[in-house]
Amino acid sequence: MKVYFDNAATTAMDDRVIEAMLPFMKNHYGNPSSVHSHGREVRTAIERARKKVAELLNATPSEIFFTSGGTEADNTALVCGIETHGIKHAITSPLEHHAVLHTLEVCEQKGNIQLHTLDVNAKGEIDLNQLEELLKKYPNALVSLMHANNEIGNLNDLQKIGSLAQEYGAFFHSDTVQTMGHYTHDLKNLPVDAIVAGGHKFHGPKGSGFLYVRKDKKIHPFIHGGAQERNMRGGTENVIGIIGIAKALELAYEDMAGHEAHIKALKKHFIEKLKAEIPGVEFNGLSGQTDKSLYTVLNVSMPPSEANSGMLLFNLDLAGISASGGSACSSGATVGSHVLRALNHNPERDSVRFSFSRFNTIEEVDYTIEKLKELYAVEA
Ligand SMILES: Cc1ncc(COP(=O)(O)O)c(C=O)c1O
Repeated sequence: MKVYFDNAATTAMDDRVIEAMLPFMKNHYGNPSSVHSHGREVRTAIERARKKVAELLNATPSEIFFTSGGTEADNTALVCGIETHGIKHAITSPLEHHAVLHTLEVCEQKGNIQLHTLDVNAKGEIDLNQLEELLKKYPNALVSLMHANNEIGNLNDLQKIGSLAQEYGAFFHSDTVQTMGHYTHDLKNLPVDAIVAGGHKFHGPKGSGFLYVRKDKKIHPFIHGGAQERNMRGGTENVIGIIGIAKALELAYEDMAGHEAHIKALKKHFIEKLKAEIPGVEFNGLSGQTDKSLYTVLNVSMPPSEANSGMLLFNLDLAGISASGGSACSSGATVGSHVLRALNHNPERDSVRFSFSRFNTIEEVDYTIEKLKELYAVEA
Protein backbone atom coordinates (compact mmCIF):
# COMPACT_ATOMS: atom_id res chain seq x y z
CA MET A 1 0.00 0.00 0.00
CA LYS A 2 1.21 3.52 -0.79
CA VAL A 3 0.00 6.24 1.55
CA TYR A 4 0.45 9.97 1.06
CA PHE A 5 0.22 11.77 4.40
CA ASP A 6 2.24 14.85 3.50
CA ASN A 7 -0.51 17.16 2.31
CA ALA A 8 0.81 20.15 4.27
CA ALA A 9 3.88 19.95 2.00
CA THR A 10 1.81 19.71 -1.15
CA THR A 11 -1.37 18.07 -2.44
CA ALA A 12 -2.37 16.04 -5.48
CA MET A 13 -4.08 18.11 -8.13
CA ASP A 14 -7.81 17.63 -8.54
CA ASP A 15 -8.65 16.27 -12.02
CA ARG A 16 -11.19 19.06 -12.48
CA VAL A 17 -8.43 21.62 -11.93
CA ILE A 18 -6.29 19.95 -14.60
CA GLU A 19 -9.26 19.93 -16.98
CA ALA A 20 -9.81 23.65 -16.42
CA MET A 21 -6.14 24.35 -17.13
CA LEU A 22 -5.74 22.22 -20.27
CA PRO A 23 -7.39 24.62 -22.77
CA PHE A 24 -4.92 27.30 -21.67
CA MET A 25 -2.00 25.01 -22.51
CA LYS A 26 -3.40 23.90 -25.84
CA ASN A 27 -5.58 26.57 -27.43
CA HIS A 28 -5.61 29.79 -25.44
CA TYR A 29 -1.93 30.61 -25.55
CA GLY A 30 -2.11 34.34 -26.25
CA ASN A 31 -0.21 36.78 -24.07
CA PRO A 32 -2.83 38.44 -21.84
CA SER A 33 -1.13 41.81 -22.40
CA SER A 34 -1.62 41.57 -26.18
CA VAL A 35 -4.51 43.62 -27.50
CA HIS A 36 -5.48 41.20 -30.30
CA SER A 37 -8.18 38.57 -29.85
CA HIS A 38 -5.73 35.82 -28.80
CA GLY A 39 -4.55 38.05 -25.97
CA ARG A 40 -7.94 39.42 -25.07
CA GLU A 41 -9.53 36.02 -24.50
CA VAL A 42 -6.79 35.11 -22.05
CA ARG A 43 -7.03 38.49 -20.29
CA THR A 44 -10.76 37.87 -19.86
CA ALA A 45 -10.08 34.45 -18.32
CA ILE A 46 -7.56 35.90 -15.86
CA GLU A 47 -9.97 38.62 -14.77
CA ARG A 48 -12.71 36.02 -14.40
CA ALA A 49 -10.39 33.99 -12.16
CA ARG A 50 -9.58 37.09 -10.09
CA LYS A 51 -13.27 37.88 -9.71
CA LYS A 52 -13.97 34.31 -8.59
CA VAL A 53 -11.20 34.38 -5.95
CA ALA A 54 -12.40 37.80 -4.72
CA GLU A 55 -16.01 36.62 -4.51
CA LEU A 56 -15.08 33.51 -2.51
CA LEU A 57 -13.08 35.59 -0.03
CA ASN A 58 -15.60 38.45 0.13
CA ALA A 59 -12.98 40.86 -1.21
CA THR A 60 -12.89 43.03 -4.33
CA PRO A 61 -10.96 41.94 -7.46
CA SER A 62 -8.64 44.96 -7.17
CA GLU A 63 -7.39 43.57 -3.84
CA ILE A 64 -6.20 40.25 -5.35
CA PHE A 65 -2.75 39.90 -6.98
CA PHE A 66 -1.64 36.62 -8.50
CA THR A 67 1.87 35.46 -7.56
CA SER A 68 4.13 32.44 -7.98
CA GLY A 69 3.04 31.05 -4.61
CA GLY A 70 2.86 31.67 -0.89
CA THR A 71 6.52 32.58 -0.54
CA GLU A 72 6.39 35.39 -3.08
CA ALA A 73 3.11 36.66 -1.65
CA ASP A 74 4.60 36.72 1.89
CA ASN A 75 7.76 38.50 0.65
CA THR A 76 5.69 41.08 -1.21
CA ALA A 77 3.39 41.83 1.72
CA LEU A 78 6.22 42.12 4.24
CA VAL A 79 8.94 43.92 2.28
CA CYS A 80 6.58 46.30 0.49
CA GLY A 81 4.25 46.75 3.46
CA ILE A 82 7.25 47.90 5.53
CA GLU A 83 8.62 50.18 2.78
CA THR A 84 5.34 51.71 1.63
CA HIS A 85 4.05 52.50 5.09
CA GLY A 86 7.39 53.58 6.59
CA ILE A 87 7.18 50.87 9.25
CA LYS A 88 10.03 50.69 11.79
CA HIS A 89 9.03 47.77 14.00
CA ALA A 90 7.77 44.28 13.18
CA ILE A 91 6.24 41.76 15.58
CA THR A 92 6.15 38.07 14.79
CA SER A 93 6.55 34.65 16.45
CA PRO A 94 9.35 32.06 16.26
CA LEU A 95 6.88 29.56 14.78
CA GLU A 96 6.32 31.35 11.48
CA HIS A 97 7.30 29.71 8.20
CA HIS A 98 10.71 30.68 6.85
CA ALA A 99 8.97 32.60 4.06
CA VAL A 100 8.07 35.08 6.81
CA LEU A 101 10.91 34.69 9.32
CA HIS A 102 13.78 34.90 6.85
CA THR A 103 12.15 37.82 5.03
CA LEU A 104 11.74 39.81 8.25
CA GLU A 105 15.29 38.92 9.33
CA VAL A 106 16.63 40.32 6.05
CA CYS A 107 14.57 43.50 6.55
CA GLU A 108 16.17 43.83 9.99
CA GLN A 109 19.69 43.14 8.70
CA LYS A 110 19.21 45.91 6.15
CA GLY A 111 18.40 48.26 9.02
CA ASN A 112 14.83 48.87 7.86
CA ILE A 113 13.10 47.54 10.96
CA GLN A 114 13.63 46.27 14.47
CA LEU A 115 12.19 42.78 14.86
CA HIS A 116 10.32 41.71 18.01
CA THR A 117 9.59 38.04 18.56
CA LEU A 118 6.77 36.89 20.82
CA ASP A 119 7.36 34.14 23.38
CA VAL A 120 5.65 30.78 22.93
CA ASN A 121 4.86 28.16 25.56
CA ALA A 122 5.60 24.42 25.27
CA LYS A 123 2.37 23.96 23.28
CA GLY A 124 3.30 26.74 20.86
CA GLU A 125 0.70 29.21 22.11
CA ILE A 126 1.39 32.92 21.87
CA ASP A 127 0.36 35.44 24.49
CA LEU A 128 -1.92 38.18 23.19
CA ASN A 129 -1.15 40.32 26.28
CA GLN A 130 2.49 40.36 25.23
CA LEU A 131 1.41 41.32 21.72
CA GLU A 132 -0.64 44.20 23.12
CA GLU A 133 2.28 45.39 25.28
CA LEU A 134 4.50 45.49 22.20
CA LEU A 135 1.85 47.25 20.15
CA LYS A 136 1.48 49.88 22.89
CA LYS A 137 5.23 50.43 22.82
CA TYR A 138 5.52 50.36 19.04
CA PRO A 139 2.27 51.60 17.48
CA ASN A 140 2.04 51.52 13.67
CA ALA A 141 4.20 48.38 13.63
CA LEU A 142 3.84 45.47 11.25
CA VAL A 143 2.35 42.33 12.80
CA SER A 144 2.92 39.04 11.01
CA LEU A 145 1.24 36.03 12.60
CA MET A 146 0.13 32.99 10.66
CA HIS A 147 -3.40 31.63 10.65
CA ALA A 148 -2.32 28.01 11.17
CA ASN A 149 1.12 26.59 11.76
CA ASN A 150 2.25 24.21 9.03
CA GLU A 151 4.09 21.86 11.43
CA ILE A 152 1.99 21.65 14.60
CA GLY A 153 -1.31 22.96 13.26
CA ASN A 154 -1.86 25.60 15.99
CA LEU A 155 -4.55 28.06 14.95
CA ASN A 156 -4.26 31.75 15.74
CA ASP A 157 -7.36 33.85 16.34
CA LEU A 158 -7.13 36.31 13.43
CA GLN A 159 -10.16 38.23 14.63
CA LYS A 160 -8.58 38.99 18.01
CA ILE A 161 -5.10 39.68 16.64
CA GLY A 162 -6.51 41.84 13.87
CA SER A 163 -8.62 43.88 16.27
CA LEU A 164 -5.55 44.57 18.41
CA ALA A 165 -3.53 45.48 15.32
CA GLN A 166 -6.28 47.87 14.22
CA GLU A 167 -6.49 49.48 17.65
CA TYR A 168 -2.78 50.34 17.54
CA GLY A 169 -2.61 51.31 13.87
CA ALA A 170 -0.54 48.27 12.87
CA PHE A 171 -0.32 46.65 9.45
CA PHE A 172 -1.48 43.05 9.96
CA HIS A 173 -0.20 40.36 7.62
CA SER A 174 -1.19 36.76 8.14
CA ASP A 175 0.36 33.77 6.39
CA THR A 176 -2.79 31.84 5.51
CA VAL A 177 -1.07 29.31 3.24
CA GLN A 178 -2.19 26.34 5.36
CA THR A 179 -5.79 27.45 5.86
CA MET A 180 -6.68 28.80 2.41
CA GLY A 181 -9.09 26.34 0.82
CA HIS A 182 -9.66 24.61 4.17
CA TYR A 183 -11.32 27.43 6.13
CA THR A 184 -13.41 30.36 4.90
CA HIS A 185 -11.87 33.82 4.98
CA ASP A 186 -14.46 36.58 5.00
CA LEU A 187 -12.27 39.58 4.28
CA LYS A 188 -14.94 42.25 4.62
CA ASN A 189 -15.35 41.19 8.23
CA LEU A 190 -11.88 39.95 9.16
CA PRO A 191 -9.51 42.72 10.28
CA VAL A 192 -6.45 41.64 8.27
CA ASP A 193 -4.53 43.85 5.84
CA ALA A 194 -2.77 41.14 3.85
CA ILE A 195 -3.18 37.39 3.48
CA VAL A 196 -1.65 34.88 1.08
CA ALA A 197 -2.25 31.58 -0.69
CA GLY A 198 -0.31 28.84 -2.46
CA GLY A 199 -2.46 26.84 -4.88
CA HIS A 200 -0.63 23.55 -4.39
CA LYS A 201 -1.80 23.28 -0.78
CA PHE A 202 -5.43 22.83 -1.84
CA HIS A 203 -5.23 20.61 -4.93
CA GLY A 204 -4.17 23.36 -7.32
CA PRO A 205 -0.94 23.67 -9.29
CA LYS A 206 2.52 24.33 -7.84
CA GLY A 207 3.94 27.74 -8.64
CA SER A 208 0.55 29.43 -8.28
CA GLY A 209 -0.52 31.77 -5.52
CA PHE A 210 -2.07 35.06 -4.66
CA LEU A 211 -1.78 37.97 -2.30
CA TYR A 212 -4.70 39.92 -0.90
CA VAL A 213 -3.99 43.48 0.20
CA ARG A 214 -6.80 45.57 1.71
CA LYS A 215 -7.53 48.52 -0.55
CA ASP A 216 -6.88 51.20 2.04
CA LYS A 217 -3.45 49.67 2.85
CA LYS A 218 -2.05 49.64 -0.71
CA ILE A 219 1.60 48.70 -1.13
CA HIS A 220 4.31 49.16 -3.80
CA PRO A 221 5.21 46.39 -6.25
CA PHE A 222 7.84 43.81 -5.28
CA ILE A 223 8.74 42.70 -8.81
CA HIS A 224 9.31 45.57 -11.24
CA GLY A 225 8.73 45.21 -14.95
CA GLY A 226 5.66 45.48 -17.12
CA ALA A 227 2.29 46.76 -16.02
CA GLN A 228 0.86 43.31 -15.25
CA GLU A 229 -1.33 42.83 -12.17
CA ARG A 230 -2.20 46.55 -12.31
CA ASN A 231 1.45 47.53 -11.97
CA MET A 232 1.87 45.36 -8.87
CA ARG A 233 3.85 42.47 -10.38
CA GLY A 234 5.85 42.74 -13.57
CA GLY A 235 6.16 39.64 -15.75
CA THR A 236 3.89 37.72 -18.10
CA GLU A 237 1.26 36.04 -15.98
CA ASN A 238 1.34 32.32 -15.17
CA VAL A 239 -1.97 31.91 -16.97
CA ILE A 240 -2.44 28.19 -16.37
CA GLY A 241 -1.50 28.64 -12.71
CA ILE A 242 -4.05 31.43 -12.31
CA ILE A 243 -6.80 29.38 -13.95
CA GLY A 244 -5.80 26.41 -11.78
CA ILE A 245 -5.70 28.17 -8.42
CA ALA A 246 -9.06 29.85 -9.00
CA LYS A 247 -10.65 26.52 -9.95
CA ALA A 248 -9.04 24.79 -6.96
CA LEU A 249 -10.40 27.44 -4.59
CA GLU A 250 -13.84 27.21 -6.15
CA LEU A 251 -13.87 23.43 -5.64
CA ALA A 252 -12.62 23.81 -2.08
CA TYR A 253 -15.44 26.23 -1.24
CA GLU A 254 -18.06 24.10 -3.00
CA ASP A 255 -17.87 21.41 -0.33
CA MET A 256 -15.65 22.74 2.43
CA ALA A 257 -17.86 21.41 5.24
CA GLY A 258 -17.87 17.95 3.64
CA HIS A 259 -14.09 17.91 3.26
CA GLU A 260 -13.64 19.13 6.82
CA ALA A 261 -15.94 16.46 8.23
CA HIS A 262 -14.15 13.72 6.27
CA ILE A 263 -10.64 14.84 7.21
CA LYS A 264 -11.54 15.55 10.86
CA ALA A 265 -12.94 12.03 11.18
CA LEU A 266 -9.65 10.61 9.85
CA LYS A 267 -7.64 12.73 12.26
CA LYS A 268 -9.81 11.80 15.27
CA HIS A 269 -9.56 8.12 14.37
CA PHE A 270 -5.79 8.46 14.01
CA ILE A 271 -5.48 10.12 17.44
CA GLU A 272 -7.67 7.55 19.19
CA LYS A 273 -5.88 4.58 17.61
CA LEU A 274 -2.45 6.00 18.41
CA LYS A 275 -3.41 6.54 22.04
CA ALA A 276 -4.75 3.00 22.24
CA GLU A 277 -1.90 1.26 20.41
CA ILE A 278 1.28 3.21 21.19
CA PRO A 279 1.90 3.68 24.91
CA GLY A 280 3.61 6.98 25.65
CA VAL A 281 2.57 8.67 22.42
CA GLU A 282 2.20 12.47 22.61
CA PHE A 283 1.15 15.20 20.22
CA ASN A 284 3.19 18.25 19.44
CA GLY A 285 1.68 21.71 19.79
CA LEU A 286 -2.09 21.71 19.86
CA SER A 287 -2.36 19.21 17.02
CA GLY A 288 -3.84 16.52 19.30
CA GLN A 289 -6.77 18.82 20.14
CA THR A 290 -9.06 18.78 17.15
CA ASP A 291 -10.95 21.92 18.21
CA LYS A 292 -7.79 24.01 18.52
CA SER A 293 -5.76 22.92 15.53
CA LEU A 294 -5.78 22.72 11.77
CA TYR A 295 -7.79 19.61 10.91
CA THR A 296 -5.32 18.60 8.19
CA VAL A 297 -2.27 18.31 10.50
CA LEU A 298 -1.32 15.84 13.23
CA ASN A 299 2.18 16.10 14.67
CA VAL A 300 3.03 12.97 16.62
CA SER A 301 5.80 12.70 19.19
CA MET A 302 6.71 9.03 19.49
CA PRO A 303 8.15 7.50 22.67
CA PRO A 304 11.95 7.11 22.69
CA SER A 305 12.91 3.99 20.74
CA GLU A 306 16.38 2.79 19.87
CA ALA A 307 15.20 0.98 16.76
CA ASN A 308 13.56 4.07 15.30
CA SER A 309 15.75 6.83 16.66
CA GLY A 310 16.39 9.23 13.78
CA MET A 311 15.01 6.58 11.41
CA LEU A 312 11.26 6.90 11.85
CA LEU A 313 10.53 8.77 8.63
CA PHE A 314 12.83 6.43 6.74
CA ASN A 315 11.13 3.37 8.23
CA LEU A 316 7.71 4.76 7.34
CA ASP A 317 8.94 5.49 3.83
CA LEU A 318 10.07 1.86 3.50
CA ALA A 319 6.52 0.86 4.43
CA GLY A 320 5.19 3.08 1.62
CA ILE A 321 4.03 5.89 3.91
CA SER A 322 5.08 9.43 3.01
CA ALA A 323 5.04 11.79 5.97
CA SER A 324 7.38 14.48 7.14
CA GLY A 325 9.35 15.73 10.09
CA GLY A 326 8.39 19.32 9.67
CA SER A 327 8.15 21.66 6.73
CA ALA A 328 9.07 20.16 3.37
CA CYS A 329 12.44 21.89 3.24
CA SER A 330 13.56 20.22 6.47
CA SER A 331 11.87 16.93 5.64
CA GLY A 332 13.50 13.95 7.24
CA ALA A 333 15.22 15.80 10.05
CA THR A 334 13.25 16.83 13.12
CA VAL A 335 16.39 18.48 14.51
CA GLY A 336 16.00 20.86 11.58
CA SER A 337 12.58 21.98 12.71
CA HIS A 338 12.78 25.49 14.15
CA VAL A 339 9.18 25.05 15.32
CA LEU A 340 9.86 21.96 17.45
CA ARG A 341 13.03 23.60 18.75
CA ALA A 342 11.03 26.65 19.88
CA LEU A 343 8.75 24.23 21.78
CA ASN A 344 11.79 22.66 23.50
CA HIS A 345 10.84 19.31 22.08
CA ASN A 346 12.72 16.39 23.64
CA PRO A 347 15.25 15.31 20.97
CA GLU A 348 15.06 11.69 22.19
CA ARG A 349 11.53 11.48 20.87
CA ASP A 350 11.04 11.19 17.12
CA SER A 351 8.39 13.44 15.70
CA VAL A 352 6.43 12.92 12.54
CA ARG A 353 3.90 15.17 10.90
CA PHE A 354 1.01 13.38 9.23
CA SER A 355 -1.04 15.73 7.09
CA PHE A 356 -4.28 14.81 5.38
CA SER A 357 -6.43 15.72 2.43
CA ARG A 358 -9.90 14.88 1.16
CA PHE A 359 -8.33 12.10 -0.92
CA ASN A 360 -7.15 10.12 2.13
CA THR A 361 -9.09 7.17 3.55
CA ILE A 362 -9.66 5.48 6.90
CA GLU A 363 -7.92 2.35 5.51
CA GLU A 364 -4.78 4.41 5.03
CA VAL A 365 -4.92 5.51 8.65
CA ASP A 366 -5.37 1.91 9.84
CA TYR A 367 -2.50 0.71 7.66
CA THR A 368 -0.23 3.43 9.10
CA ILE A 369 -1.21 2.51 12.66
CA GLU A 370 -0.39 -1.14 11.94
CA LYS A 371 3.04 -0.18 10.58
CA LEU A 372 3.74 2.06 13.57
CA LYS A 373 2.74 -0.78 15.90
CA GLU A 374 5.17 -3.10 14.12
CA LEU A 375 7.97 -0.53 14.24
CA TYR A 376 7.46 0.10 17.94
CA ALA A 377 6.75 -3.52 18.90
CA VAL A 378 10.45 -4.37 18.84
CA GLU A 379 11.07 -2.90 22.27
CA ALA A 380 7.61 -3.31 23.75
C1 LIG B 1 2.78 28.35 6.33
C2 LIG B 1 3.45 28.38 5.00
N1 LIG B 1 3.83 29.55 4.46
C3 LIG B 1 4.40 29.63 3.27
C4 LIG B 1 4.65 28.50 2.51
C5 LIG B 1 5.28 28.64 1.17
O1 LIG B 1 4.33 28.51 0.16
P1 LIG B 1 4.75 28.18 -1.36
O2 LIG B 1 5.27 26.80 -1.37
O3 LIG B 1 3.46 28.33 -2.15
O4 LIG B 1 5.76 29.20 -1.76
C6 LIG B 1 4.31 27.25 3.03
C7 LIG B 1 4.62 26.01 2.28
O5 LIG B 1 5.19 25.08 2.81
C8 LIG B 1 3.68 27.19 4.30
O6 LIG B 1 3.31 26.02 4.83
